[in-house]
Amino acid sequence: MIKRLLIVSLFFLMIHHTFGQQKNISGDHISIVFNTAAQQYATLLDSANVKMKYPRSSKNGNIAYVGIEDWTGGFWPGALWYLFEYTNKPVWKEAAIKWTETLESNQFNTNHHDIGFMMYNSYGNGYRLTHNEKYKDILIQSAKSLCKRYNEKVGAIKSWNDKPSLDGKDTMHYPVIIDNMMNLELLFFASKITGDTIYKHIAIKHAEKTMLNHLRADYSSYHVVDYDTITGKAIHKETNQGFAHNSTWTRGQAWGVYGFTMSYRETGDKRFLNTAIKMADFFIDNNRLPSDKIPNWDFNVNEAGYTSPATAQSNQLTYIPRDASAAAILASALLELSNYAGTKGAKYKSTANQILTSLSNANYLAKPGANNGFLLMHCTGNANRVSEVDKPLMYGDYYLLEALLRAKK
Ligand code: GLY
Repeated sequence: MIKRLLIVSLFFLMIHHTFGQQKNISGDHISIVFNTAAQQYATLLDSANVKMKYPRSSKNGNIAYVGIEDWTGGFWPGALWYLFEYTNKPVWKEAAIKWTETLESNQFNTNHHDIGFMMYNSYGNGYRLTHNEKYKDILIQSAKSLCKRYNEKVGAIKSWNDKPSLDGKDTMHYPVIIDNMMNLELLFFASKITGDTIYKHIAIKHAEKTMLNHLRADYSSYHVVDYDTITGKAIHKETNQGFAHNSTWTRGQAWGVYGFTMSYRETGDKRFLNTAIKMADFFIDNNRLPSDKIPNWDFNVNEAGYTSPATAQSNQLTYIPRDASAAAILASALLELSNYAGTKGAKYKSTANQILTSLSNANYLAKPGANNGFLLMHCTGNANRVSEVDKPLMYGDYYLLEALLRAKK
């Protein structure tokens, strides 16, 4: 009995020793990032208010803006809401309200699946922080619009409309991307707020189908799965933004960890928790993850057995860029997952804190006045088009701020 007790104590001491050392990111790091955000976003806000467009990245030394139709529009007001949440300053609340409300007409947008990103990060945060009833109605209508892209035979929400595959070999008619897991949060919210289970039903079906077809045996992920709407079966499994069809695009893997963690929170379904844990383990135990825990844009770039489609242009790059946005998404997901993962929780928390420590130092966090007003440097949007490579990305900033607020709590 005493021997067993000693072994158990030794085990917990080892766990504590291995993962306990970096239990929390320091409050100093958190305040440095939010102070930097206040300075950077003051500039970004002035410029955005003149352009009345959404800051997304930078190009040729200037801020790159997008219009209301772009999938990233909700991250700008979302980041402003997080800055308000941290500072409690009216100036950020006013800015967040103003930019959230510019997105109103997107509640009827059925052109793609990204309405979850657009509306839940903006209006969803706004509703959480202000309880504005009008926001609730807009979110419900947004969820209705997203559901229009659901096909019961397939059991998943269509991400994009008809799209040629990256190698041009076929046209995908029902492409579903791993990123789409993120849009389910809007549906879970709509069921909770209306009491109508249809939204949650669709979200669960989508998560189940993604679990079935997007994941490989080792819990790495395909980026895109294309479905046959007659049989409901997967007909193509490929990449669009990753290095190769059989590779693992790191941001996609991070979307998956986040999406399945959130799906577990909303359903209590242990299959989703298990998937989130296995996807997280694939990411953080990967021997190709650099020691600062900020991944390359894809785990398998230039690795034997992985061939980039001929039409992809990432071979024009003379180095392998990192993707700090993938790291920020993963950190936020891991902090939530650490609460549900039992004894593995310490590992996830420790890794999230290592990521956040890396992202809040000068290697990744911009100096005030630099980086066109964004926070994170070294993100990769789409290496296959050599687009937004080694640049800031608004969604990288958004998930960094979200992760730091989660760490603070
Ligand atoms: N959802 C698109 C991306 O992550 O680039």
